[in-house]
Amino acid sequence: MAALKHIVGSVAVITIRNPPVNALSPQVQVSLMEVLKDVTLDPSVKAIVLCGENGKFSGGADIRTFSKTDPKTDIKRMSLDDVNSVAERSRKPVVAAVEGVALGGGLELALACHYRIAHVKARVGLTEVLLGLLPGAGGTQRLPRLIGVPAALDMITTGKIVPAPVAVKLGIVDSVTEGSAVEEAIHLAQKVVGQPLESRRICSKPIQCPPNVDSLLNDAKVKLKKQFRGAESHQVCVEAIRAAVQLPFAEGIVKERELFLSLFNSDQAKACQYAFFAERSVAKWTTPSGANWKSASPQTIRTAAVIGLGTMGQGIAVSLAKAQIQVIAVEQDEQQLEKGSKAVTAILERETLKKQQFELAHKSDSFGSVTFTLDFNALKNADLVIEAVYENMALKKEIFQRLSSICKPGAFLCTNTSGLDIDEIASVTDRPHLVIGTHFFSPAHLMKLLEVVRGYHSSSTIISTVMNLSKVLNKVGVVVDNCPLFVGNRLLLPYINQAVFLLEDGRTPEEVDQVLEEFGYAMGPFRMSDLAGLDIGWRSRMEFGLTGPKLLPGAPVRQREGKRYSPLPDILCEEGRFGQKSGKGWYQYETVGGRNAARDPWVHNFLHEYRRAHAIKQKNVSQGEILEWCLYPLINEGFKVLEDGIASGPEDIDVIYNNGYGWPRHKGGPMFYASMIGLPRVLVKLEEFYKNNPDIPSLKPSNLLKALVKQGSPPLKEWRSQLGYPNSRL
Ligand code: CAA
Ligand code: NAI
Repeated sequence: MAALKHIVGSVAVITIRNPPVNALSPQVQVSLMEVLKDVTLDPSVKAIVLCGENGKFSGGADIRTFSKTDPKTDIKRMSLDDVNSVAERSRKPVVAAVEGVALGGGLELALACHYRIAHVKARVGLTEVLLGLLPGAGGTQRLPRLIGVPAALDMITTGKIVPAPVAVKLGIVDSVTEGSAVEEAIHLAQKVVGQPLESRRICSKPIQCPPNVDSLLNDAKVKLKKQFRGAESHQVCVEAIRAAVQLPFAEGIVKERELFLSLFNSDQAKACQYAFFAERSVAKWTTPSGANWKSASPQTIRTAAVIGLGTMGQGIAVSLAKAQIQVIAVEQDEQQLEKGSKAVTAILERETLKKQQFELAHKSDSFGSVTFTLDFNALKNADLVIEAVYENMALKKEIFQRLSSICKPGAFLCTNTSGLDIDEIASVTDRPHLVIGTHFFSPAHLMKLLEVVRGYHSSSTIISTVMNLSKVLNKVGVVVDNCPLFVGNRLLLPYINQAVFLLEDGRTPEEVDQVLEEFGYAMGPFRMSDLAGLDIGWRSRMEFGLTGPKLLPGAPVRQREGKRYSPLPDILCEEGRFGQKSGKGWYQYETVGGRNAARDPWVHNFLHEYRRAHAIKQKNVSQGEILEWCLYPLINEGFKVLEDGIASGPEDIDVIYNNGYGWPRHKGGPMFYASMIGLPRVLVKLEEFYKNNPDIPSLKPSNLLKALVKQGSPPLKEWRSQLGYPNSRL
């Protein structure tokens, strides 16, 4: 039985059992229905408590069963909605004891109960939208009736998870307890036996609508369209809530079902669910020596240090402090220290405010302290150090040499380099096995991704410690191998290059960005480059001798070693156009550090003059071709990364892109996207592009892509086995 029953006095306690998260699989639903019917008929039972085994109410419907479900038959036969309806109609009070999580269908089940008691550490949310769905078991009809349209709209369309103290303030749960929620629920159930239940049935509650409800819903759709470009589920969620506003409960449920089914088997839902499982799979890392996530022993980090309080160091320090880790922040001079400490303090103040507002001033754990210093000796007691100084190998080596002599034995030494050789940095230390790349993304206190770059000597302890730390920091860690630019930036390079070549060929930054933004990217390549800072790539190209003083004299302007090269980004930097930080880049901004990108006549004029000076003929490129021209080389590089064994599998690449590069989650990630549009299509286009542009090597189709197409394009989950990792270094 997936739902167990035991009787406490006159209360039947029904426990959902389906480890690890008590997901409501079809079997659990059938079992719940049987037990519910059984206890409602049992005259000795006067009240019912619903809870989950092992301190977790329920993680919602069983996502693993979705791909095996035929919406036309299976969902209509029996659904969680039927279970909810039986619970809600019961003449005996039903109390939900929410411990751990009540998410998605789990919360919908709790909403069908007459009372809800939550443990103070429990978290609740209707997260279906993040899986490309909508709450399909009455959630869109009950939540607005319970907490009002604006609050329900926010929760349902964003998939926000709220802690129990917030849930009680919102009115989602009746009370919280620091003790056992089950005991408390039993107590309440006994107390309310015989009391009228009609007012406790959410389905009977009238919906409280603000007077401007139509414009509220319409405005929400506009905002969501901008925030989640091209994603359907957020829009459809609003329509389901509109049904709650306009229709009686029973009709609203029918409409909700209809809308749910419209999303259920969509490509977007498949992509989001793939992304969910991909994130779980990357946590299960392994190395060729056999060390893996299960056998390694992560160390707890209590004190961490950050070296360099520039763009990245600031965010990293905040991220650590938010996770209650004590931080020591080191700078090179007074001026930079003051600038950095002001910035960190300001971000922490904003974060504290946000946290207090979110938790409605309920008591919560405070942030870790941050100590600012110029003294490297302050690092001697740090458990882990993250270096975030300029992208310069000589400087990084000098720092690591110093760390080697100052830090305690066993301290972990991490570098935030965005692409330099981890092994070379580790080579100057007394502990290469305790050196690793921790590649955060900007802004580091907000971005979810942490690329964990394993050096040749990195031990399983440091990998597991940093992967564990990523979870503590509420980030998604992905272990990758050490190669120039690692995985994320290695794929980004051809994408950005292709976008810049389009400018040479006659397109504008606005046109290119628009195509990629319509595809679903939060920002097109040029707006993103302006945000990240054009000088970062410029410094790195100088470091590699592609421009600047190290460039060999006589190198052709638009070629490097026989390959096509565009000097456009270098010229912009030479003009002092670094992007948002200097108020101008590919766009112009209202001020230095401004966020609103506006068309810049200077850039248009400059591009025009550049094309004229180099006698470049304008090419007519359709929007579809702009998309393929930019994305397919990125995907192609993904296949090359797999071939080289730099990433463990396509899921790793997709998790990196979904969480660090603004890839639209409802398209799953670049490798998943390739599998959806069909590998033959990608191959044919790359072949065509390469034939016409033999001086762009990133267009040359990878051997793996060719091999997969030859094998009949097997599904993505089979690529790992097809690959066999002949060259894998992971
Ligand atoms: N269905 C199936 N498996 C699930 C699951 C679910 N709803 N939720 C979690 N799991 C699995 C994970 O895949 C993982 O399995 P593996 O160990 O095999 O990889 C395992 O449970 C543990 O999950 P986590 O590693 O994520 O553990 P955690 O403790 O960090 O987080 C959690 C637990 C908060 C529940 C998180 O897993 C989560 O957010 N789950 C999804 C919740 C959700 O979105 N539910 C809505 C489902 S859709 C729905 O309910 C539709 C409807 O309207 C009827
Ligand atoms: P930044 O230029 O904004 O900051 C670097 C900081 O390091 C400056 O404050 C500087 O004073 C300090 N510094 C320099 N030498 C020092 C020394 N000897 N001791 C102490 N502090 C010193 O650089 P940013 O952008 O923060 O980059 C830092 C690192 O992070 C680089 O390796 C970069 O490649 C990487 N990175 C940058 C990303 C970005 O978006 N900016 C993204 C991911 C990684």
